[in-house]
Amino acid sequence: MVSKVAIIGANGGVATHLIKRLAKLSNEFEPVAFIRNESQIAKFQDIGVKYSLDIDITNSTVEEISKSLIGFDSVVFSAGAGGKGLDLTFSVDLDGAIKVSEAVKLNKIKRFILVSAIKSQDRSFWWDTKLRSYYIAKKYADEIISNDKEIPWTIVQPGHLLNEESTGKIYDPRKVDELAIKAQKDGKLNISRDDVALTIVESLKNDKTIHQFIPLIEGDIPIKEALNQL
Ligand SMILES: NC(=O)c1ccc[n+]([C@@H]2O[C@H](COP(=O)([O-])OP(=O)(O)OC[C@H]3O[C@@H](n4cnc5c(N)ncnc54)[C@H](OP(=O)(O)O)[C@@H]3O)[C@@H](O)[C@H]2O)c1
Repeated sequence: MVSKVAIIGANGGVATHLIKRLAKLSNEFEPVAFIRNESQIAKFQDIGVKYSLDIDITNSTVEEISKSLIGFDSVVFSAGAGGKGLDLTFSVDLDGAIKVSEAVKLNKIKRFILVSAIKSQDRSFWWDTKLRSYYIAKKYADEIISNDKEIPWTIVQPGHLLNEESTGKIYDPRKVDELAIKAQKDGKLNISRDDVALTIVESLKNDKTIHQFIPLIEGDIPIKEALNQL
């Protein structure tokens, strides 16, 4: 059966790669792009996928979001305020993600994939950086969602996002933690947006990834294989 996937924040970099990949797998997936601006419609018509303007991440209530998500099998949240101030960071990256997760739970949707950020859980990693408030939002969204076992969450935590071509490979997610502090100093915590998208596709296909954090940086293990080892 074809799985209907709602992508929230669909016009973003990771999400656009994801939608293009899912559109090519039309025997398995039917992606719907949730966008916030009519000027973005043509882009998704060109890709050949459905779109919706129904969800306003900052202003829609959980009930309104739930209504828009009726009939979906999976939801991916890849929106982010991109450092545009505290109010938006908290209402998109923190409360937006949580509201969508609550709607997923109300609708008993089978999969919820959240795009967070690497080492969100480790204050020592980001406290003394310019990204502190962004990371506070990511940390508490991750914590609140992952503590709710009624939500079929998977949280991908990419390092610094690049617009490079996909390699189809990542560093072993189980070993990212031990590498991360050293790698942060060396400036090597990168991953391409398209490899994050591919990881989301492979996660949607693999129920072993439910209730897993998946830290993502570039590496040498084929993504499917890396996820199977979790
Ligand atoms: N940049 C990095 O190095 C990095 C590293 C780790 C994790 N991340 C996280 O990875 C995720 C995906 O990143 P990306 O680079 O693909 O994101 P992106 O290209 O910046 O896209 C962000 C998406 O969020 C939407 N958005 C922004 N503000 C919004 C608002 N107020 N209301 C509704 N929607 C809003 C954008 O909509 P519009 O297109 O309409 O503006 C866009 O669809 C984000 O959660 C980001 O925080 C980023």
